[in-house]
Amino acid sequence: MTRLLVAYATRCGSTKGVAEAIGRGLAAAGWGVDVRPVGEVRDLRPYRAAVIGSPIRGGRWLPEAVDFVRKNGEALKRMPVAYFAVCLTLRDDTEGNRSEVAACLDPVCELVQPVELGLFAGALDPSSLPLVLRLLLRCIKAPAGDFRDWDAIRAWAVKLGKEMTGKLGVRCGRT
Ligand SMILES: Cc1cc2nc3c(=O)[nH]c(=O)nc-3n(C[C@H](O)[C@H](O)[C@H](O)COP(=O)(O)O)c2cc1C
Repeated sequence: MTRLLVAYATRCGSTKGVAEAIGRGLAAAGWGVDVRPVGEVRDLRPYRAAVIGSPIRGGRWLPEAVDFVRKNGEALKRMPVAYFAVCLTLRDDTEGNRSEVAACLDPVCELVQPVELGLFAGALDPSSLPLVLRLLLRCIKAPAGDFRDWDAIRAWAVKLGKEMTGKLGVRCGRT
């Protein structure tokens, strides 16, 4: 089976949901997919391609997601890699906001160049956060709610799956 890894970081779980939806879209495009937290991935040898994602916090990917790319840089440079980011800025999906969020991924793009970037609106449930963060987010008037667009996430994943298949010249589902 030609396998693809979807590795993600999360703090409150919304990025896990996005990673799982991406996994289902890639599977629909014919890939065998493993969806795993970055901390649970020990070996990239079973994979022909990788999709790696994180929420944006304070204008950056979570540190464990950046570390994952840094630690596995050599292996990732030998396969097609795509990144995704989940954040609240994209609740308002404008060209300007997309550029701003894409710039948050510059540090990982410099480590390993991706074939695609997926930029998605996320979710915020203040009740799941420590008091200090709740107060901070209230001060900056951060919007609460679930803004994930499942159709857009799936469409991106299906298109990406086909693109990666084309790049590798493989027929997915076969060895
Ligand atoms: C402390 C904190 C900082 C955040 N910083 C940003 C940010 O800089 N830009 C942004 O667009 N969203 C920001 N967000 C929103 C998160 O990216 C969004 O809620 C995301 O869906 C959280 O993912 P998770 O549930 O997987 O942890 C922030 C959220 C929190 C709680």
